[in-house]
Amino acid sequence: MTARIPEDARRRAAWLREQVTAADHAYYVLDRPTLADSEYDALYRELVALEGRHPGLRDAGSPTQRVPGQVAEGFAPVPHPVPMVSLENVMSAEEFREWVASTDRFLKSESARRYSIEPKIDGVSLELDYEEGVLVRAATRGDGMVGEDVTANARTLRSIPLRLRGTELPRRLVVRGEAYIRKPDFEALNRRLEEEGEEPFANPRNCCAGSLRQLDPAIPASRPLRFVAYAVALVEGVAWATQERLLAGLAALGLPTSHETTFATGADEVARHWASLAERRDALAYEIDGVVVKEDDMALRERLGLRNRSPRWAVAWKFPPRQARTRVERVVWTVGRTGVVTPSADLAPVPLAGVTVSRATLHNADEIARLGLLEGDPVLIERAGDVIPKVLRVLEEQRNGRERPVEVPSDCPECRTALVRAEGKVALRCPSLACPAQAVRALIHFASRLGADIRGLGEKQADLLWRRGLVKDPADLFRLEAAQLEPLERFGAKSAANLVAQVDAARRLPLDRLLFARGIPEVGERAARVLARAFGTLERLAAATREELLELDEVGEVLAEQVVAWFARPHNRDMLARMAACGVAPTRVEAPRGGAFAGLTVVLTGTLE
Ligand code: IVH
Repeated sequence: MTARIPEDARRRAAWLREQVTAADHAYYVLDRPTLADSEYDALYRELVALEGRHPGLRDAGSPTQRVPGQVAEGFAPVPHPVPMVSLENVMSAEEFREWVASTDRFLKSESARRYSIEPKIDGVSLELDYEEGVLVRAATRGDGMVGEDVTANARTLRSIPLRLRGTELPRRLVVRGEAYIRKPDFEALNRRLEEEGEEPFANPRNCCAGSLRQLDPAIPASRPLRFVAYAVALVEGVAWATQERLLAGLAALGLPTSHETTFATGADEVARHWASLAERRDALAYEIDGVVVKEDDMALRERLGLRNRSPRWAVAWKFPPRQARTRVERVVWTVGRTGVVTPSADLAPVPLAGVTVSRATLHNADEIARLGLLEGDPVLIERAGDVIPKVLRVLEEQRNGRERPVEVPSDCPECRTALVRAEGKVALRCPSLACPAQAVRALIHFASRLGADIRGLGEKQADLLWRRGLVKDPADLFRLEAAQLEPLERFGAKSAANLVAQVDAARRLPLDRLLFARGIPEVGERAARVLARAFGTLERLAAATREELLELDEVGEVLAEQVVAWFARPHNRDMLARMAACGVAPTRVEAPRGGAFAGLTVVLTGTLE
C-alpha cells in the first residue's frame, strides 16, 4: 500500500523535475546552461528530499533516479533491430571523389547531390531504444548483430533523456550515436584519479568503453560521459525524408546532436567543409578523427543500400594522422612487470594533437636498429588517435653531427641482473624474481581496474609498501593491517582503512579478474575470461595440462605453454597458497547466457575448402 501523498508535494515534485530536466537539457544538449551550479544543486537536493519523504513520488523518469542502488551481475545480450555496420574509410580528397563517383555510377546520375557532414567523434557507439518516448534500453555495438545491455549505465548520462520531449512522440525510436568524453573533462578526471592513487586512463575512448562496461552504475555516473545522436535504426510513427530533418527531429525530441554538423552540395563543397573542420580540430572540445559524409536524401539512401559490411550512402573521411618534428634527447630503458626491458625516447617537448608530447615508445632494440636511431637525432613522430606517440623516422638530413649511438643495456636498469634474450624473441628480459621494478609493477597491475580493482594502490603507494618491506608480492596485500599503514607518509587513518577494505573486497574476486590480475604472461582480459569459464576454479586450472588447454578453441600453443609454466613455478604456487590461506577465494565465472545462437547446435554440410 502506498501512503497518500499531499497534492502540494506532488505538484512541487513535478515542478522540480521539470526544472532539473530542463536544466540538464540546456546544459548537455543545447550547450547553453540556464542555471548556476548552486541553483541547480538546490533544486536537485530539494527533489531528492521530497522523494525521500514520499517514496511513492519516485519514478524511473525522475532525474534523481539515474543512478540505481544495485550492482548488475552481467550484461544481457540485445539483438540489434538492424545490424550495426561500420563505415568505409577514405584517407584523401582523391579517395573521397572516387567514393562520390562510385555512388554516381551506382545511381546512374551525374547531378551534384547534397550531403550531411558530421564530425566523427572518437568514442564508443551506443544504441538507445525509446518506447512511447521512454528510454527502455541501451545497448553497445557488440559484434554488430547482438550488443550488450548497458541500460543502467547509459541512464547515468545526463545528456541522454530518460523521456523524449514534445507532443508528437514516435511510438518507437531506436537511435544511434556515440558516447564520448570531452577533452577538458577527461583531463580533470585523470587528474582526480591520479590524486586518488588510481591509474589514469590512456585516452577518452578507453575510458568510455570501460565505463559503459561496469556492473556498478555508480562508476559511469562518476565519469563525465556524454552522448551525441547521429542515426536512427528504426522509427515508428514518424518519417524523416532527409538526414537534415532527421537530426532536427532528434534535437526536437530532446536528444543531443552535434552543433558542428553542416550540409553541402557536391564534392568540392564537402571538401571545403572537411578542411575547415580539420583546421579547427584542436580547438574542438572533443577528439575527432575525421568527418562522416552521408547522402542527405533518405530515398536515395534506400536505393544505394548496403554493400558487404558498410552502407554505400556514407563514408568516413579521416583526417591525416598527426605528426610533428622534434629531437630525441636520450633513450631510457624501463623494466615492465613481466621483466621485459623496453626502450623509450625522451623527446624535446613538442605540441601534438592537443597535448605536449615528451616521450615516445621505441618498442625494442630491433626497432631502434630498424630506424637507425641515434641519441640526439631529429625525428618525425606521430600520435595516431589514441596511442602513445611513436617515432616514425629519423630526419637524417637534419643531423648536426653530435648524435651518439644508443647503448643497449646488458644489465637490468633496476637490479643489475644480466639481461637475457630468449631465442627468436626481440625482447630483452630481466630474469630475476627479486627485481624490485618488476615486483612493484606487478603489484600495480594486480590492483589495476581490470584486475583486483584495489583503489588507492597506485604507483607511489605500491612503491612505498614494497620499499618498507610490507608487501613483496600480491599475496602479502591480504595480510596488511590498517595499523601498519597508518604511520606511513602517504596514508592517514582514513586511507589506510580504505585500502584494507578494498583488499578485503578482492578476496571474492571473479576468477577471470584474479587471473588477469596475476599477470601471467599472455593472459590478457580475454584469455582470462576464456580460462575462467572453461576451468571454473583455480585448482582445476592449475592442474590443467598443455593438451587440456589446447582443447579450447581460443587457446593457442604460446598461451597454453605460458599458463602451464606459470603454474609450475614454485614461487607462483607458493604465492597462490599464501593467498588461499588469507581467505582469497575467487568466484566462478559462468559462460554468458547470450547470443542469438546460444544453446544451438550448428550442423555444416557439404565440403569446406
Ligand atoms: S553513422 C551506417 N555518424 O564511426 C551508419 N557514425 O565506422 C554508421 N561515428 O562505429 C554510423 N560519428 O561509432 C555515424 N556522425 C557519425 C559518427 C559515426 C562517429 C562512429 C560510429 C561508427 C564508426 C564508423
